[in-house]
Amino acid sequence: MALRPVDGAGIAVAAARLRRGGLVAFPTETVYGLGADATDDRAVARIFEAKGRPHFNPLIVHAPDLAAHRAWAVFDDRALRLAEAFWPGALTLILKRTPDAPVSRLVSAGLDTVAVRVPDHPVAQALMRAAGCPVAAPSANRSGRLSPTEAGHVAASLGGAADLILDGGPCPGGLESTVLSLTGDGPVLLRPGLVSRDVIEAVVGEAVVGPVEAAGPAPPGTPPESPLESPLESPGLLAAHYAPRAPLRLDAGEAQEAGEALLAFGDAPASGYAAVRNLSPAGDLTEAAASLFRLLHELDALGPAAIAVSPVPEDGLGAAINDRLRRAAVRS
Ligand code: TXA
Ligand code: MG
Repeated sequence: MALRPVDGAGIAVAAARLRRGGLVAFPTETVYGLGADATDDRAVARIFEAKGRPHFNPLIVHAPDLAAHRAWAVFDDRALRLAEAFWPGALTLILKRTPDAPVSRLVSAGLDTVAVRVPDHPVAQALMRAAGCPVAAPSANRSGRLSPTEAGHVAASLGGAADLILDGGPCPGGLESTVLSLTGDGPVLLRPGLVSRDVIEAVVGEAVVGPVEAAGPAPPGTPPESPLESPLESPGLLAAHYAPRAPLRLDAGEAQEAGEALLAFGDAPASGYAAVRNLSPAGDLTEAAASLFRLLHELDALGPAAIAVSPVPEDGLGAAINDRLRRAAVRS
């Protein structure tokens, strides 16, 4: 595995690796992805091995533009409107596969749907155009761990499992894309992300429901800690996810035990903590999203007794930030 600074030669080498069935980690505007040629079953299978990812959890297919995606995904009017409004960008659409879609069935994990996204990052764009194939890519971390927002995070999490890592610096967004299913009657938000629900609703002109509301109430007897929260939920959204090694304590105020670290937001009081990082001293949610995984990685590396987290407001991007924090707080 090599860490390559990104220039034309680095892109050409990485594209050739992809075409030969290799695994290439690359930056996007959200987080780093671990890419493989989406048309190559063996290459896609290697992604699941490298991440230790369960095979029932499908992958996102990345392409440089909407036109390319139309070969394997069926776009109705609503999907076209969303693609035109948000691509390139941090919105992933779940659509029906076309008959004879030329992407591996493994990316869909046995479903008749496919997740599609056009990343808004010059390195991702250059890589996909040079490779000339759709790129299947989950976040470039071991399954269940924090998503990587820097090349160093990828190297630390995957070791030699990636054939090559393209180092494009820190990801500007810092949180994964929003995953929206358009396979039912109404749009269903499977994963909150960088594109927030209200801006999607403004484009489609209808309510976007969460997976739990779309599935109706849980059947009686469903244990509250059931890992899959509803049958409609994105198969990858296990409750325990994005886990740092240290336990997380949410909505924290004062320090509660010796050796606790604090992940603060805004002007939260920080006395009594062994280490403190602030998501955004100014209380800005975009800045907080961009620094969330980096600061969690940083605090976790200090080996604290626990990581306490100050409250983060739930509006706009706060919904996605709190979603990741709640998942990080669940111990598997
Ligand atoms: O920002 C991102 O989305 C990053 C970058 C690299 O693009 N990728 C990413 O991939 O976060 P991953 O695999 O870590 O998360 C993709 C999510 C998973 O929760 C998966 O279950 C869901 O999308 N997903 C993929 N295909 C699906 C499908 N056909 N139906 C329902 N959910 C799907
Ligand atoms: Mg992931």
